[in-house]
Amino acid sequence: MVVIDDFSTGRRENVDVLLQDPRCGRTLTVIEADVREALDEVAAEPFDEVYHLAAKVGVRLVLSNPIAAAETNFECTTGVLRFAVESARIHGRAPATLLASSSEVYGQPDKLPSAEEDGARYGPTTARRWSYALCKALNEHMGLAYHEEYGLPVVIARFFNTVGPGQMGTYGMVLPRFVSAALSGRPLEVYGDGRQVRCFCDVRDAVPAVTQLLHRPGCAGAIYNVGSDRTISILDLARLVTRLTESSSEIRLVPYESVYGTSFEDARERKPDLARLRRAIGFRQRWSLENTIRDLAAWMRDEEASNRVATRAGVRAAAPNAQPALALSPFRRSFPLASARPRS
Ligand SMILES: NC(=O)c1ccc[n+]([C@@H]2O[C@H](COP(=O)([O-])OP(=O)(O)OC[C@H]3O[C@@H](n4cnc5c(N)ncnc54)[C@H](O)[C@@H]3O)[C@@H](O)[C@H]2O)c1
Repeated sequence: MVVIDDFSTGRRENVDVLLQDPRCGRTLTVIEADVREALDEVAAEPFDEVYHLAAKVGVRLVLSNPIAAAETNFECTTGVLRFAVESARIHGRAPATLLASSSEVYGQPDKLPSAEEDGARYGPTTARRWSYALCKALNEHMGLAYHEEYGLPVVIARFFNTVGPGQMGTYGMVLPRFVSAALSGRPLEVYGDGRQVRCFCDVRDAVPAVTQLLHRPGCAGAIYNVGSDRTISILDLARLVTRLTESSSEIRLVPYESVYGTSFEDARERKPDLARLRRAIGFRQRWSLENTIRDLAAWMRDEEASNRVATRAGVRAAAPNAQPALALSPFRRSFPLASARPRS
C-alpha cells in the first residue's frame, strides 16, 4: 500500500499513526511528494485500487491561493487518470479508481435534495469560490470519459461535508473551527446569518462507503453522493458544539464580506439524495453528529495536551491557525497516452 501526500495542508501525524499500526504499518509506504511528481516513482508496481483524494480544499484556501488550488485540483486528477491507464497497459489490469468529488458540483441547487443527475448553476467567474466547484465538475467529466474511452473502472464520490477526529479548522472547515473555539473559550464565529444549512457525515462512515463502491461490481462509471442527509443550520451547529463541549464561548455572527470579501457567494442549503448510494451498497450511517462532535473534541484535547508536552520538551508545536502560502508546483506531463489505446 502506498500513500502519496505532499502534506501541504494535510497532517503528517495522521499517516504516522498508520505506520505505527501493526495491522498495516509493515505494508505501507509513504511518499512525501506532489502527486504530479510522484506517480512516475510507483509506475512499476501493480495496484488493485487507487483512491485519489489529494486536493486543495476549504473555502479560505481556495480564495487565498486560487492558482495553486485550481492547478492542483485539476492537474492531479488528470495525472491519476493517465497513471491508471498506463498501469493497465503495463500490468494488464486496470486499477479500480476512486475520484473524490464534492457537493460543490451542485453549485446553487434549484431543488433539494440534490440527486446525481441534477444540473448545476454556478455564480460568475468573478466570484472566486466557484473555481473549486468547476475543477471538481471537470474532473468528473474526465473520469467518466476515461471510463468510456479506456474502460477504466472509475467511481466518482461526491462528498458532502465530511468531518471527524483528525480534521483541523486551519483552512476554514466549519466544524473543527467551532470545536477548537469552544474548547479554548474563544467566540464561535458564524458567517452570514447562520441560517445556511448543511449535512455532516462522519469520515468513519464515508470511508467504508467509498471502499464498498470500489469493490461492488457494477458501480464503475457512475457518480454517487456520499454523506449524511440530516440537515442542520450553521447557527444550530454552533449551539450544538457549545452544548456538547460544555463551553461558555459566545456565538458571534460575522458578515461574509469581512471574512471572504464582497464577491463571496454561499449556497444556502446542501442536502444529498442518498437513494443511489443506498441502492448500491445499502449505506447506513453509524456515527451521529453528536458522537462525531464529542470524538472530535476528545481528539483536539489530546492533541492540545501532546502539543504542550512537545513544546515543553523544546519541539515547536504546529500553530493551529497559521495559514501558509502555497508554493506553485511545476507541472510535469506524466504519462502521455501515446502508448495506451482507447477502446474502439
Ligand atoms: N472533507 C469534506 O468535507 C469534503 C467535501 C467534499 C469533497 N471533499 C474531497 O475529498 C478529498 C479529501 O478531502 P479532505 O477533507 O480529507 O481534505 P484534506 O486537506 O485533509 O486532504 C487532502 C490532502 O491532499 C494533500 N495534497 C494537496 N495537494 C497535493 C498534491 N499536489 N500532491 C499530494 N498531496 C496533496 C494535502 O496535503 C492533504 O493531506 C478532497 O479531494 C476533497 O476535495 C472533501
